[in-house]
This record gives sequence, structure tokens and C-alpha cells, in this order.
Amino acid sequence: MDKNNSSGTVGSVVPAFKSASGAAIPTIGLGTFGSDSVDAEAVAQAVRTAIGLGYRFIDCASVYGNEKEIGTALAQVCSGKAGYPAVSRKELWITSKLWNDKHAPRDVAPSFEKSLKDLGLEYMDLYLVHWPFPNFHPPKCDVSSRSPDARPYSHENFMATWRELEKLVDRGLVRHIGTSNMTIPKLDLVLAAARIKPVCNEMELHPHFQQPELFSYVVSKGLVPIAYSPLGSPGRPERDKTPDDTVDMDDPVIIDIAKKRGIHPASVCLKWATRRGQLPIPFSVNPRNIEANFKAVTTDPLTDAEFAAISKIDRNCRLIKGQVFLWQNAKGWEDLWDLDGTITK
Ligand SMILES: NC(=O)c1ccc[n+]([C@@H]2O[C@H](COP(=O)([O-])OP(=O)(O)OC[C@H]3O[C@@H](n4cnc5c(N)ncnc54)[C@H](OP(=O)(O)O)[C@@H]3O)[C@@H](O)[C@H]2O)c1
Repeated sequence: MDKNNSSGTVGSVVPAFKSASGAAIPTIGLGTFGSDSVDAEAVAQAVRTAIGLGYRFIDCASVYGNEKEIGTALAQVCSGKAGYPAVSRKELWITSKLWNDKHAPRDVAPSFEKSLKDLGLEYMDLYLVHWPFPNFHPPKCDVSSRSPDARPYSHENFMATWRELEKLVDRGLVRHIGTSNMTIPKLDLVLAAARIKPVCNEMELHPHFQQPELFSYVVSKGLVPIAYSPLGSPGRPERDKTPDDTVDMDDPVIIDIAKKRGIHPASVCLKWATRRGQLPIPFSVNPRNIEANFKAVTTDPLTDAEFAAISKIDRNCRLIKGQVFLWQNAKGWEDLWDLDGTITK
């Protein structure tokens, strides 16, 4: 981790994580998925607040429905109209993602260009394939609904999409490309076939869902693990909650460390992420939480004993199960995640 340009205080430039390929990615990002309950303007305001506090990495996606508003915020940030001195575009790390209904090769560049235009950018730092399935579902649909067009993973189709992302890099429009919601067998195939390798895999990671095998694999292949839902996504849509889901921030080990340090359990989850070498992208529209989350990753790392204690509380509790992406004859959400180490057909 390059800490040269950080004094570890809010308002300083956030430290960078150096990927094996040389990309310098800020160690914390702001998530921007409003979970159907937070409107686009509130998320754009959170982006202004976060960058003012020192964040430099904003995790966007076309499907979040707020890239235009975030684009307006970024323009204000870069022109010094956000209430603090201008931040140069070069300092920012902006991610966007290709949604599932735009995997067809002819759709990739137009969808990317729309995100780029909405965000008001000349280039994107990172562009991800949001999910490895081209399976579309209407917004806010019931989790039990299955699209008749949904299909299991097809490597041939995924690579046809990936080739289009590689072309965006060739055109100088994207600095890095990456995957999200992948599994080891899928990544094995993609890494073998890609001309331009993914710089990262964005994946669900929090103390109750540590994914040790996939995490180690991702690191061993030189990919950066970007950790989504790092607090256990307490604000996720109701339809995504199941009775078996556990709550990271209620875990006695997390609470005990938080109490001893006089910090919120959220900060403990984020300190654990940073100490483990994954880049958390917590969502918040609350300025105090945005600031606390930044401070959590830039000050007072966990001790060895605290880190070891959290390593033991993994519950293998996946919260973002992806049910809506299932195809007609799929057995259950587990089919999306290749639990037996082979790609589900
Ligand atoms: N690639 C993918 O498929 C994928 C999937 C899911 C998510 N993501 C990305 O990851 C981001 C984060 O994930 P997430 O939104 O699911 O969950 P999360 O970041 O784990 O949790 C966000 C929730 O925690 C609350 N919170 C934030 N900071 C807090 C603090 N310091 N104290 C107490 N509560 C706090 C927020 O409420 P307040 O607003 O009130 O602070 C919000 O309700 C998303 O926004 C999105 O950018 C990507």
C-alpha cells in the first residue's frame, strides 16, 4: 500500500492500493447503489460530500439509475463548485458497470458511452461486467420471478462481451477492465482467454461472508478484491432479505472491538477489510457515516489479535444471492455461484 501521500486524516488524499498490474486504486470507495430507497440526488450529494472529505473512488453502475446526477456532482467537484477547492480528474477513480441486458457485443460500446456521457467523463478508470449472466429482470421485480430469456453462464458469450471491453481500452476510453460476481471456475476460463486481464474482481465481502477460497484465488492471480456490501448491506431492498441472513454489525466480536475502541461496528468491519487487503466501497448518504467510514480505513488499523478474532466469525452468509438472474430450470440461487467448483450448466 502506498501511504506516501496520506497523513491519515480526513481531507487528505486517500492512500492507494497498488495492483499487480500497477494500477493505483484508492483504498476506499463510495458505493452509489441507492437500493431502490435513496434517490439519485441524495446519492449525488453523497458523492460531493465524500470527495470533499478525501474519497477519490466512486463505484457507479448504469443500473443504479443515478449516473447523470453523479456526473453533475463530479463536474462541480472538478470545477471547484462543490464548496471546496477543485479536485483534478486525474485524482479520481471512477468505476462503472455494464448491465446484464447489454452483453450483446453490439450493445457494449453504446452502453459504455452512455455511462461515460452521463458521468461527464472523457475516460473511465474502471469498467466492469456487472454480472457474468446476460439475464435481465425488470427493476423491483419479485425475487421468485424468472425471465424466460435467462440462461446459465456461457463462456463463449462472456468472452464476446469481454472482447468489446478490451476494445474500449484500445480506444483509450477505459483505463482498466474487470469482473464482478465471478467464481473460481469462471475466472479460470476468463484469465486463460483474456487479451487484457481483469484488474479486479468486485465481490461480496464482509466479516460474515469472507469467501476465503475465492479471496485467496483472486489475490493469487494478481487481481484486486473490491469488497461490496462491506458492512453487510443493512439497507438492501427488503426483497433481498431472507430469514437466515445474519447481521455483521450485531456480531458480539465486532461489537466488543467497537466498544473497546469507542467506534461504531461499521468502522470495525471496514478496518477488517483494509487490514485483509480488500478495497471496501461502503454506501452512505449520511455525512457523519461517510466521514467515519473514511477515517476507519485511514487511521488506527486493527491489531493482529483483533484481526484474528474477526477471521473466526465467518458465517458463509451470502446476502446478495442474485435470485432474479436465475433461468427457468435452475434449482436455486446456489446455481449462480458454482458451489461444487464447476460451472453450473
Ligand atoms: N458489483 C455488484 O454486483 C454490487 C452488488 C452490491 C453492491 N455493490 C456496490 O457496493 C456498494 C456498497 O454495498 P451496499 O450498499 O450493499 O452495502 P453496505 O455498504 O454494506 O451498507 C450500506 C448501508 O450501511 C449504512 N451505513 C454506512 N455507513 C455506516 C456507518 N458508519 N454506520 C452505520 N451505518 C452505516 C448505510 O446507511 P446510511 O446511508 O444511513 O449511512 C447503508 O444503509 C453499493 O452501493 C454498490 O456501489 C456492488
